[in-house]
Formats: sequence, C-alpha cells, structure tokens
Amino acid sequence: MNPPRHLRTDRLWLRRWSAGDLAPFAALNADVRVMEHFAAALSREESDSLASRIEAHFEQHGFGLWAVEIPDVTTFAGFIGLSVPSFEAPFTPCVEIGWRLACEYWGRGYATEGARAVLDFAFTELGIDEVVSFTVPGNLRSRRVMEKIGMVRSSADDFDHPVRSGGQPPRRHVLYRIARY
Ligand SMILES: CC(C)(COP(=O)(O)OP(=O)(O)OC[C@H]1O[C@@H](n2cnc3c(N)ncnc32)[C@H](O)[C@@H]1OP(=O)(O)O)[C@@H](O)C(=O)NCCC(=O)NCCS
Repeated sequence: MNPPRHLRTDRLWLRRWSAGDLAPFAALNADVRVMEHFAAALSREESDSLASRIEAHFEQHGFGLWAVEIPDVTTFAGFIGLSVPSFEAPFTPCVEIGWRLACEYWGRGYATEGARAVLDFAFTELGIDEVVSFTVPGNLRSRRVMEKIGMVRSSADDFDHPVRSGGQPPRRHVLYRIARY
C-alpha cells in the first residue's frame, strides 16, 4: 500500500514529520502540564528519540502518529494518529488512537477533529476492524475526546500498563474501544 502523506480536516493538516518539528515537540514534551498523566516530562534527547520511533513506525506500518499543523495558526501543535502498541496485554495485538497537543491549543476541539479524521482513515482506507485507546483514569480530557469520537469504555479491559519510564511500576489504565463503522 502507498498511504497518503497527510490527512486534512477543516482546520488541520495531519502530516508526516519534518526536522523543524523536533524543537516544538521537545518543548511540549518538557511541559509538565502536557505530561501530567505520564511518568515524567521528557528531556530533549528522549523527545527526539520518541520522534525517531514515530518515524520508524510510519516506515514499518504505513501509518502512525501524524504531526498536527494548523494553517494560519502554527506549523506544529503536536500529534494525533495511530500506533501499534509494542507491549503485550489481553487486548493486543491492536491499533491504538492517540493524541498529544501543546497546551496553548487545548480546548478548541482540535484533538476531536483530528481524531475523527484518523478514525475514518483507519476504517475506510486501512480496513482496520477495531481501534482502541487507553489512558490513566484521571486523564479526563483524553477520555472526553475518546467519548466524543464514539469510543466506549470496556471496563472488563482495565489493565496495568507495563511500559513505564524510569523503571516505574505498571499503572492502572482504562481501555476504550470502537469497532469499524
Ligand atoms: C487530551 C488532549 C489531546 C485534548 O486536546 P483538545 O484539543 O483540548 O481536545 P478537545 O478540545 O477536542 O476536547 C477536549 C474535551 O475535554 C473536555 N475537558 C477539558 N478539561 C476537562 C476536565 N478537566 N475534565 C473533563 N473534561 C474536560 C473539554 O471540555 C472538551 O470536551 P467538550 O467538547 O465536550 O467540552 C490535550 O489535552 C492533551 O494534549 N493533553 C496532554 C497529553 C495527553 O494526555 N494525551 C493523551 C494521553 S492518553
């Protein structure tokens, strides 16, 4: 398959990453407000390494966590997209939808708008049967986005996320699912 380089919505351009994204990506990954629900904020090196893994994921799977550009607003607001988790859990293998935006762009519906386009792409273009998403119970913003795009919590699938930076113990996560529509 030769997937498109980008997806467009009314306000967003979801595109492959460029070198100019690394500095603003490091800034948002260093922001404790953005990283409140993760183990820790990221150093520049950790942020660059994550960007490399995102690029490698695109190369391997043909889809991934797209960089979010908002024309006339910013060339880089964060990412929205799909990934294949590398850890094992009762619900894996699976395709996950996820998002991370710099705080100055929160609360304007951007994550929901981009996520809807990504879901459409996953179901229509990629033919994926089901998409999941997960987060810690307290990440109400992210859970709200999951609900707004039609995902439903599967309480029976709550799980202890095994991948934690710095050797931290697994942490409880809630799982949401949506089947192809
Ligand atoms: C999660 C995130 C991407 C949402 O981005 P966003 O563009 O602000 O999302 P939207 O504007 O589309 O929707 C946010 C929804 O959360 C709601 N919300 C905001 N703060 C909330 C809170 N404290 N409690 C409950 N809901 C909240 C908003 O009101 C909105 O819902 P509404 O449209 O029904 O009013 C953004 O907050 C983010 O990047 N957070 C840090 C990274 C992160 O946690 N990523 C997810 C990891 S699983």
